[in-house]
Amino acid sequence: MEKVRTAVIGLGARGQSLIKPLLLGMDNCEIVAVCDLYQDRVDLIMSQIKEETGKDAFGTTDYKEILALKNIDAVLVMTSWETHVKIACEAMEAGIPTGLEVGGAYDLEECYDLVKTQVKTKTPFMFLENCCYGRYEMMAMNIVKQGLFGEIVHCEGAYQHDLRTEVLRGEELRHYRLNNYINRNCENYPTHELGPIAQILDINRGNRMLYLTSMSSKSVGLNDYARLHPDTIQGKFADMKFNQGDIVTTNIMCSNGATISLMLDTSCGRPYSRNFTVHGTRGMYREDGNYIYFDTDFDEASHWNWSPNWNNALDVYAEKYDHPMWKKFLADGLRGGHGGMDYLVYNEFFNYVINGGKSPIDVYDAAAWMCITPLSDISIREGSRPVEIPDFTLIK
Ligand SMILES: NC(=O)c1ccc[n+]([C@@H]2O[C@H](COP(=O)([O-])OP(=O)(O)OC[C@H]3O[C@@H](n4cnc5c(N)ncnc54)[C@H](O)[C@@H]3O)[C@@H](O)[C@H]2O)c1
Repeated sequence: MEKVRTAVIGLGARGQSLIKPLLLGMDNCEIVAVCDLYQDRVDLIMSQIKEETGKDAFGTTDYKEILALKNIDAVLVMTSWETHVKIACEAMEAGIPTGLEVGGAYDLEECYDLVKTQVKTKTPFMFLENCCYGRYEMMAMNIVKQGLFGEIVHCEGAYQHDLRTEVLRGEELRHYRLNNYINRNCENYPTHELGPIAQILDINRGNRMLYLTSMSSKSVGLNDYARLHPDTIQGKFADMKFNQGDIVTTNIMCSNGATISLMLDTSCGRPYSRNFTVHGTRGMYREDGNYIYFDTDFDEASHWNWSPNWNNALDVYAEKYDHPMWKKFLADGLRGGHGGMDYLVYNEFFNYVINGGKSPIDVYDAAAWMCITPLSDISIREGSRPVEIPDFTLIK
């Protein structure tokens, strides 16, 4: 197989941002079928496929029709958080290699379902966490694996993304986040930051997350934004009760003694960051400022004047420490959204479907990273009590 005949289920913001600009131009993929609950989204993508490739794709509003197709090699599930695990499980039951877009789980049972279904069916599965392919995440990983930060004792990460308009325009955008922010209060989007951290800390590969505690701030950011925009569709949420706290902080203890700190910060004004931080005994990397520090380069004369000891990773170290995958990617020509990591994660998926072997991000990773959401919900409701994180790798 040279090209993976691919079906895409879920044609909202993510589907639309991937299909025309990226997937239709990839050498190892051909989109042959698409599905969304909304007919207009199906029509839009079908017309884009015809325009770009000259071919007609199959389109439907019923995902079960997709899973019954005989002419597909893989399915990409990009639907809402409420539906994507169920659809991914049904796809695996149908024996169709499955790529699942990211998001936190709704409950713990979903995580068990995902693992048990993959273990039972042995259908190839990959969790499509693009941030595991970010340039700096991979550079830090490269440095960690060479031992240059010493022993890693703590990592931090965040989803710090001003989503006030996306949430408040949810009805107009037909987007699921609005309902989530009204009804839930949890670390609702942990995997962008936790994925790369878990890989660095060898989670599920000798190390594991034991328990977490979560704390939520008050919820005022969305109401404040709505009050500032009284004459827009967002204004009607001025007095709406949102359950979702503006800042949710989650701390995780690992079996090897390292700790992880996560933050969800999506309802207040701020610039984007994943605040990716890796701290070892002999050095550290911090995304904000793109700072990197090595003990070996410590400038004693600047001991109290800290700034010369914070080297900018791009200026000083990128050439030396870029991950080999990124060195090749830069040489070949960067492509795809989110700084190139969308291309890399989808390229990995299609190559995995073509060549087989081990999943680059397997179902145990998906379950471990996604389960943080329902567990943080419990911890927040119960006074930030520690909540145990299951070891999904025991399911064989
Ligand atoms: N990796 C990334 O950088 C990234 C970025 C954005 C979104 N996402 C993920 O992609 C997924 C989709 O997010 P989005 O922002 O596109 O949401 P969205 O609401 O814009 O789109 C979701 C689409 O799924 C469709 N859908 C829901 N249930 C369905 C069903 N049963 N059958 C068929 N279609 C169904 C909806 O009609 C909608 O069009 C989420 O899991 C999200 O976390 C990932």
